[in-house]
Amino acid sequence: MIDWFGNKRGFQVTLDEDLVGGCAYDAHGQAISDAAMQKAHEADAVLLGAVGGPKWEAIERSIRPERGLLRIRAELGLYANLRPALLFGELAGSSSLRPELVADLDILIVRELTGGIYFGQPRGIREENGERVGYNTEVYSESEIARIARSAFEAARRRDRRVCSVDKANVLESSELWREVVTTVAQDYPDCELSHMYVDNAAMQLVRAPKQFDVLVTGNLFGDILSDIAAMLTGSIGMLPSASINEARQGLYEPVHGSAPDIAGRDVANPLATILSLAMLLRHSLDRGDLADRVERAVARVLADGLRTGDLAAPGAGATGTRAMGDAVLARLAD
Ligand code: IPM
Ligand code: MG
Repeated sequence: MIDWFGNKRGFQVTLDEDLVGGCAYDAHGQAISDAAMQKAHEADAVLLGAVGGPKWEAIERSIRPERGLLRIRAELGLYANLRPALLFGELAGSSSLRPELVADLDILIVRELTGGIYFGQPRGIREENGERVGYNTEVYSESEIARIARSAFEAARRRDRRVCSVDKANVLESSELWREVVTTVAQDYPDCELSHMYVDNAAMQLVRAPKQFDVLVTGNLFGDILSDIAAMLTGSIGMLPSASINEARQGLYEPVHGSAPDIAGRDVANPLATILSLAMLLRHSLDRGDLADRVERAVARVLADGLRTGDLAAPGAGATGTRAMGDAVLARLAD
């Protein structure tokens, strides 16, 4: 696809590749090498596959595949994670919810990605009274909350201008501060509407009446969970792209789905989430919204043509393979 843009649209991108996750561990004994990390620093954007699998699950935590991903997020300061959940009309039947609840669903989860309990100190497992105790720390500073709130309001301005901030302020002090800071930031966006919701209720509302939401903004752990719920509403987690962006608009783009080790290498995985991640990359880091629109249109056309990978196909209906799906999108790019 990148070659296509070079050949047909004169848009040249310098491409480099490297390993992250399980394959990096096999090659270098670490989830990402310093050399690969250096390339990520120098790039305008990183397009990532997926990391992890049962083969590497027993490895010590500090060098597990997931660490590679977390290291890129942390070192590049990619604090704003945008996870759209958009339901292509043709796929309303693939959702586990009734089609009328999800038809034309278009929500955006803005997840804080470099703070909270994922990175908070202290963390660890210690001995206490003759047994082991595991602990992690949920921590958010005012500046961390304010900048992700701004990302959410800026995104809302390009959409329906409604932001719902999700927290657990009835129990957690960190959430109490979160709510207060988001409310203050909202004063700079009088054209947007702000509401607040506890995370347990938000999880329920997402499956009860998901179309009530426009933009959801939340911390790292809640965003991890809610974005998987939102993903499933769209019929397949195999459809969803994501962007993780820093202040310089440098970004990491990856499908929301994981490595799906059970189907790896069999030419049955859905490539659309990765293709749609490339669209987000073009829009947010390379400033080519026009090319991003073209990619998204090509995906919509291929779905309208009736092509479905195994995760989307109706039971008994024939499924299109990974490679054939990719080729079909490529063929539709010129339209
Ligand atoms: C995600 C994933 C990651 C996360 C894992 C692989 C570390 O679940 O991107 O949602 O928890 O952030
Ligand atoms: Mg997740």
